[in-house]
Amino acid sequence: MADITDRRSERYAAEHSSPEPQHLVELSALTIESSPSHRMMVGRLEGRFLKMLVAISRAHSVLEIGTFTGYSALSMAEALPATGRLVTCELDERHASIAQKAIDASPYRDRIEIRRGPALETIALLPGPFDLAFIDADKGSYGAYYEAVLPKMSSGGLICVDNVLWSGRVVEDGTDETDPDTTAIKAFNDLVASDPRVECVMVPIRDGVTLIRPR
Ligand SMILES: C[S@@+](CC[C@H](N)C(=O)[O-])C[C@H]1O[C@@H](n2cnc3c(N)ncnc32)[C@H](O)[C@@H]1O
Repeated sequence: MADITDRRSERYAAEHSSPEPQHLVELSALTIESSPSHRMMVGRLEGRFLKMLVAISRAHSVLEIGTFTGYSALSMAEALPATGRLVTCELDERHASIAQKAIDASPYRDRIEIRRGPALETIALLPGPFDLAFIDADKGSYGAYYEAVLPKMSSGGLICVDNVLWSGRVVEDGTDETDPDTTAIKAFNDLVASDPRVECVMVPIRDGVTLIRPR
């Protein structure tokens, strides 16, 4: 993944944000050490951003699509009240097992539930409503996740979508239009920006996060 913001500015922003708790320092180190795909993890700055969104929206019920090793789920769970709940969807058994271990070893084990299997099937079984949803799984399904989640949001709920700048490929002239993920993200971004059902703002943090509120 290429950097959207200057790397030194990104590091400076992280260093001038509240620190991550020790269990996330350890999970981050384990993920970097054990997974070649570790850059999928939202990391310190976006993790603090997600926690802040849960806190200021006073979310009680959170849905995450794309658990990986559990970093973003654990970041958001920090801001949930004791009775709050976060359901996170993961297809890959190995990722789900690593995440489950990290969740079990954290203070938030009672707030987070991993649902294994294809996220669209899981979402169809969940009644909602969700105060906050974080979409961060396979990019080709972003449109389908958005349509599946939108009717399940509570009034005033917030949908957050990761990687909407896709390392800058969405704005590159002459981008290889055959890259299906770039094509899917561009189509998704166009859909949301012109969707009269919602208002949205794209925030260029890390790989880009769009915040969406149903009207
Ligand atoms: C970008 S990673 C998520 C990163 C995570 N939010 C974090 O910050 O650590 C995407 C995850 O979605 C999972 N995934 C891909 N397709 C999926 C599907 N159809 N249903 C559920 N999970 C899926 C992948 O296995 C991967 O673990």
